Amino acid sequence: MPSKPKNPRLPFGDQQTAPWYGKNILTVKQFDRADLDYIFSVAHEMRTMVEHVGTFDLLKGKILANLFYEPSTRTQASFMAAMQRLGGAVVPISEVHYSSVAKGESLPDTVRTLACYADVIVIRHPEVGSAALAARYADKPVINAGDGPGEHPTQALLDMFAIREELGRLDNLTVTMLGDLKHGRTVHSLARLFARFDDIRLNYVSPDILRMPREVMDEVAKKGIRQTEHATLDAALPETDVLYVTRVQRERFEDPAAYEKVKGAYVITPEVMKSAKKQMIVLHPLPRLTEISMEFDADPRAAYFRQMECGLYVRMALLAMVLGKA
Ligand code: ASP
Ligand code: CP
Repeated sequence: MPSKPKNPRLPFGDQQTAPWYGKNILTVKQFDRADLDYIFSVAHEMRTMVEHVGTFDLLKGKILANLFYEPSTRTQASFMAAMQRLGGAVVPISEVHYSSVAKGESLPDTVRTLACYADVIVIRHPEVGSAALAARYADKPVINAGDGPGEHPTQALLDMFAIREELGRLDNLTVTMLGDLKHGRTVHSLARLFARFDDIRLNYVSPDILRMPREVMDEVAKKGIRQTEHATLDAALPETDVLYVTRVQRERFEDPAAYEKVKGAYVITPEVMKSAKKQMIVLHPLPRLTEISMEFDADPRAAYFRQMECGLYVRMALLAMVLGKA
């Protein structure tokens, strides 16, 4: 559930009573099922609006600071596009090496600075807990765009929205997560979100050194979700409704030799997918390296580019919500 609102000095026209006004988005743990239904219905409206009118003025006069300490294409670009499609403006700080971070400025001081100029801050940072730290120092809403191997909550929301759009349901699903489940922040958030739904079976397929963290599995187990770990995909694939493929996260390995050993552990090809259902989808948060072959892209089950588009609508919804316009 939303935490206490920030920014008691309301700019003219803001709806203080909007339930998400001024709230941070730091972890999927803060969402219950009613919140998810609400976010997805607003995202659906955003999709309809973009398809019909393209750009509109819901957030005219609002400013987003996009603060990225790690590389990003989709998250960064979709937050910028989301703000601009809603009529707002963006201060992009994606090359922190050219900002005062390079002079040694701390994260608290950097976010305090941006909070003076912007109405909302999106942050990606290599350390777990960095977005929560930023939120303590900003008197404007902070949105976590990935905190190291911690969480990527807006990605998990867009993943769920994509599944709902593709399969028409979020209950009664067998979901198989494949690849680097240790470092992949997207699967940490997604597994936690699936624990909110009914009749969900989660399969985790990974090399031994990249297994899903115990902490995430324990949280999910408390909700009564069946979780099974595998070293290979064969047994899980035929039952799978959603195959969620991840990249082995080279940047999180201390030992390059260990990365070399596991980097090619799984490759999804048209041949591999012969044993999967006809009605299922393959997702990937992207970027993809070799874990899904390009030959599979033409298969109707390859939903990862459609999934990526959903990021725009979900991020439009989240910005409108925390700025009191939804
Ligand atoms: N783009 C996603 C993330 O930032 C997944 C990845 O990088 O592999 O977590
Ligand atoms: N899915 C995702 O977060 O992509 P980027 O790293 O390109 O933002």
